[in-house]
Amino acid sequence: MTIDIAVVPVAGLGSRLLPATKSQPKEMLPVGRRPVVQYVVDELTRVGMRRLLFITGPGKSSIENHFDLNQELIQTLRETGKEELLAELDFERAPIRYFFTRQRQLLGLGHAVLCAEPFVGNQPFVVALGDSIIGMNAQSDVVARMTHLFEEKKAAAVIAFEEVPDSEVHHYGIAQPKESGAIFELADVVEKPSADEAPSNFAIAARYVFAPSIFPALERTQPGKGGEIQLTDAVRLLIQQGAPVYGISLHPTETRYDIGNFDSYFRAFVEFALADEKHGPALRRYLQEVIRADHT
Ligand code: UTP
Repeated sequence: MTIDIAVVPVAGLGSRLLPATKSQPKEMLPVGRRPVVQYVVDELTRVGMRRLLFITGPGKSSIENHFDLNQELIQTLRETGKEELLAELDFERAPIRYFFTRQRQLLGLGHAVLCAEPFVGNQPFVVALGDSIIGMNAQSDVVARMTHLFEEKKAAAVIAFEEVPDSEVHHYGIAQPKESGAIFELADVVEKPSADEAPSNFAIAARYVFAPSIFPALERTQPGKGGEIQLTDAVRLLIQQGAPVYGISLHPTETRYDIGNFDSYFRAFVEFALADEKHGPALRRYLQEVIRADHT
């Protein structure tokens, strides 16, 4: 069995990034030279995903346009001899097919994933949040490690986790591992607990692999935190039914860049821009000057 379907939810309002996201999706904000969601697609293509379903919503059509072939632009760049810029459009020819469906009511991430059911049917699939990049320049094979573990353990779900400080656990779904180590079975998972209630510091890191049994679990899931149908609550139901659900830790090099709030968006932009081969060194010198001037 080869898992080659990825579902990428991009329907959220991105209200924490207003006003930047008033009329453009947060998934299209640039980090360095590329929009966030292009890194997500690069990562998924590299690990063998071949069909990609975006769960979109109103105001998200620029995502469809971004992954479409733009013949006119290609023609113009060719005619004007801008070969270097033409190479920047190579991602348009990635070996992956795009599909789109709308989440017609914003009822939360769990509901967004449920919108994939008619497309996915009775197959396992990957979920990758469209607002999170894993690793510098999306250099991560965590999804390949996850699909491998999913098959080996005949799991119902495999979830990626990263360790976060106590002060951040209330932003994420948090694991209660059954054992220690980089791979662990889950005894429970809790959505956005307080630091006192958190069973660990392992936060869900935007990548999942699911068996189709997640769909009936989502159908049974009642609105939870924030009145939304939480994906974490459906995973919890699977665990309570005795289904094998595993966690896998991101490697230390696989930083998760969460483009959902300005703090981490700014950090991600600066890190990616500094790592840019062409523009990074000049930016580094400039930032050093700015910081030095700030201290004088
Ligand atoms: P977030 O949890 O960050 O939600 O979504 P959000 O609504 O976009 O952001 P805020 O809270 O208003 O600032 C994580 C991912 O899940 C998608 C988002 O597009 C994002 O990629 N999502 C979220 C949906 O597709 N549908 C939803 O109902 C909620």
